[in-house]
Amino acid sequence: MIRDPFTITTPLIVASILSADFSNLGDEIREVLDAGADMIHLDILDGHFAPNLSFGPPVIQKIRPITPAYFDAHLMIAEPLRYGPAMARAGANGLTFHFEAVADPIAAARTLGKLGRVGIALNPATPVDRIEPVLDEVDLVLVMSVVPGFSGQKFMPEVLDKCRRIKRRLRADQRIEIDGGIKPDNIRQARDAGVDWFVVASAIFDSPDRFTAIAELRGQLA
Ligand code: DX5
Ligand code: ZN
Repeated sequence: MIRDPFTITTPLIVASILSADFSNLGDEIREVLDAGADMIHLDILDGHFAPNLSFGPPVIQKIRPITPAYFDAHLMIAEPLRYGPAMARAGANGLTFHFEAVADPIAAARTLGKLGRVGIALNPATPVDRIEPVLDEVDLVLVMSVVPGFSGQKFMPEVLDKCRRIKRRLRADQRIEIDGGIKPDNIRQARDAGVDWFVVASAIFDSPDRFTAIAELRGQLA
């Protein structure tokens, strides 16, 4: 369990609760952290930016007292500037908005960056060149390796080249995160492409043995 992942340079496993059993969310979060997950990824979906709905600030507020672990919020929403402040107040430590969702990504990064750590996410179809002007303004770049919306989709290896290009541009205090379809059989490729943080939903939560699932992922990074 990690409170400030930016102090760490080793690779980190970020458990996405999008595949958790929501009828038992508190225990699910405790269990994956006890099983070795470094932090918690909050996939916020509004049914507009991506075709699914998940949860928002009231749920973040309810799970915040469970753990001091870092809450990494991924805003797959059309209006990140409208809802970001409520998410930060509810307990999200970092807010990652999508490049494709905002008219002025530099302004969005500066505004959301006042609330905590800030990240920019890019869809598989978005070229790296588009986000280059924003890179200096963010703590984190999230590379989507599936089309946003659902857990359990297949990893798109073609995004690895984007990871390599972004990594070359980042400062030592910035991090790169990959999200979508990460499994023991592809996590190493992502690491070799420069990724620091690995978001994992189904490969952890769909496993009856979360400890072994996380150990298998981590074993590939050793
Ligand atoms: C996809 C979400 C991901 C997703 C990952 O829209 O951003 O965080 O939950 O799920 P898996 O690991 O199952 O691909
Ligand atoms: Zn995500």
